[in-house]
Amino acid sequence: MNLSGNKPLPVTPAKSADSVPPPALLAADGVSKQFMGENGELSVLQPLSFQIARGEFVCLLGPSGSGKSTLLRILGGLLAPDAGEVRFANRRLEGPRDEIGFVFQAHNLMPWRTALQNALLPVEVQRRRIRPEDEERARALLALVGLEGFEDAYPRHLSGGMQQRVVLARTLIQDPRLLLLDEPFGALDALTRERLNLELLHIHGLRGKTIFMVTHDIPEAVFLSDRVLVLSERPGRLVADISIDLPRPRRLEMTGSEHFARLTLEVRRHIGYLRGDERGEA
Ligand SMILES: Nc1ncnc2c1ncn2[C@@H]1O[C@H](COP(=O)(O)OP(=O)(O)OP(=O)(O)O)[C@@H](O)[C@H]1O
Ligand SMILES: [Mg+2]
Repeated sequence: MNLSGNKPLPVTPAKSADSVPPPALLAADGVSKQFMGENGELSVLQPLSFQIARGEFVCLLGPSGSGKSTLLRILGGLLAPDAGEVRFANRRLEGPRDEIGFVFQAHNLMPWRTALQNALLPVEVQRRRIRPEDEERARALLALVGLEGFEDAYPRHLSGGMQQRVVLARTLIQDPRLLLLDEPFGALDALTRERLNLELLHIHGLRGKTIFMVTHDIPEAVFLSDRVLVLSERPGRLVADISIDLPRPRRLEMTGSEHFARLTLEVRRHIGYLRGDERGEA
């Protein structure tokens, strides 16, 4: 399947021909973007099209500067594309929506608010007044992300991993149908990251969320997703859409299997920094 309309690349079909695809929650149709830079126009995204089904977990990989964060902001209605359109639940997306939760690359907790007050921020922005049931929900979400007992702690007293948990709880409080995550655990050590990935999978399974996540980590993308999309160097175009057919629930042991290794190699092949012999060419 050639997704970009340019160079044909061998891509594993995301769904087998006989399976009926579930309805798309999010669709990008010919979305492109350029910015005005100091040296004139900078083309960041070439027209790209893809769909994400309800309940799907999709990871986006690509080189630094290829336009991943830009694409995510467009999908979240935070930035308008130059051409093409984004559809959310079959309607053209014209701006941010409560049903779309966003976790940015750098966390932005308010240092003068406790974990609980930070988690309640979206409710406050939306309704101004916090009802007892909002607080109950925020407490339940903090417990869900493993922060029971830290409700009254300020961000400076929480580790980096705990701060990202507060961000997750804050994003979940609006009960978004779609979560857009931009390298949410990028700044964390490998063990904390692994732990948070397991919790993210738990939230995905438990709450039936649709998740679109940017990451730089190939094994992480394979472990979490149903599909991995790969962007080329800037201007980003979609060069691969790889179906990850590992069973759910995912367990860490799976990362040691031969099948997992094959999948990570396939993704790596599309990212394009393997030598010819490593790609399986003579
Ligand atoms: N508002 C903006 N104005 C001008 N140029 C921008 C703007 N936002 C992003 N860019 C440029 O667009 C390109 C893509 O940026 P983007 O942040 O989307 O990349 P990325 O793939 O997320 O990179 P990274 O992996 O490093 O986070 C970069 O060259 C960046 O300088
Ligand atoms: Mg980015």
